[in-house]
Amino acid sequence: MTHCYISAVATATAHANIALVKYWGKSQVALNIPAAGSLSLTLEALSTRTQVSLQDGAEDQLYLDGAPAEGRALARVSAFMDLIRDRVGSTARVRVDSSNNFPTAAGLASSASAFAALARAGSAAFGLELSPRELSILARRGSGSAARSVFGGFVRMQAGQAADGSEAFARPLSELDLELHAVIAVAAAGPKKVGSTDGMEHTRQTSPYHAAWLQQVESDLEATEAALKEKDFDRLAELVEGSCLAMHADAMAARPGILYFQAPTLAAIERVRALRAAGTEVFFTVDAGPHLVAFTPPAQRAAVAAALSDCPGVAEVITSAPGAGAALESTG
Ligand code: DP6
Repeated sequence: MTHCYISAVATATAHANIALVKYWGKSQVALNIPAAGSLSLTLEALSTRTQVSLQDGAEDQLYLDGAPAEGRALARVSAFMDLIRDRVGSTARVRVDSSNNFPTAAGLASSASAFAALARAGSAAFGLELSPRELSILARRGSGSAARSVFGGFVRMQAGQAADGSEAFARPLSELDLELHAVIAVAAAGPKKVGSTDGMEHTRQTSPYHAAWLQQVESDLEATEAALKEKDFDRLAELVEGSCLAMHADAMAARPGILYFQAPTLAAIERVRALRAAGTEVFFTVDAGPHLVAFTPPAQRAAVAAALSDCPGVAEVITSAPGAGAALESTG
């Protein structure tokens, strides 16, 4: 790690990612260390663009899609910027302008692209030069899934053993040449009710299934990476849907139970399985919200999108190719 000159302003873009093997549970809250690894695909269509400007004044400022933000969102960004300030020995306040090219209120994965972009732009603004691994570790402190959005394409996150989080980072699986696209069925239901951070902590503390869930993740990771390598769709469908359903079973078994699925989610699951039974290479996952994400080869994406947009309760369908990692756009 070296320090270079401080830029007054830096802008970065990062894309959201969707996990094929889910992250659900932490081993340490303070450093945000996941209890197990995960495996994701970064998505081109969902991106966040963030500008960090050093400024005079006593407080950080945050603007989301042009509107000033306060409360929990500002506190989370400010605490994240403190990690960077502490490393470079600065007390300078910042103005953060962040915008998503997709509706934040829909509850689509926004913390991943948000903190990957903030890590990239924030470190550049303060002249903190980080390796990709260090950037992934930094982004993880903002949000676990953000560690994966530092990289493009298929990405594997490891939890490691180190209590200081130095082994909890992601790396790109760049040797894979399978091309999967995503079809997101946005449920009409609106924002998610229990955020993933709170949901996974509540699950860890109260779900009798949590140990069994965590135990399954490591073998799912190995098997999923192998199935991606072998382009074995049947195996991928079994593994990816299995990881998703086991994560949700864990959350549902919490007390009180957390239920992210809604009627449109179930309708979309049925539709994906019917498509697969009829010969389409497609499988689904669902994050901490009601939206379904289907993965399919590019040639079948239009047919999958048409079938999902026709599902009851699906308000909108977003399709996406794989996306690139977090990138610095400009400094000045
Ligand atoms: C269901 O990364 O949002 O999307 O680390 O608390 O910010 P924090 O959690 P977050 O959790 C993502 C949960 C998930 C599964 C996944 O993306 O792996």
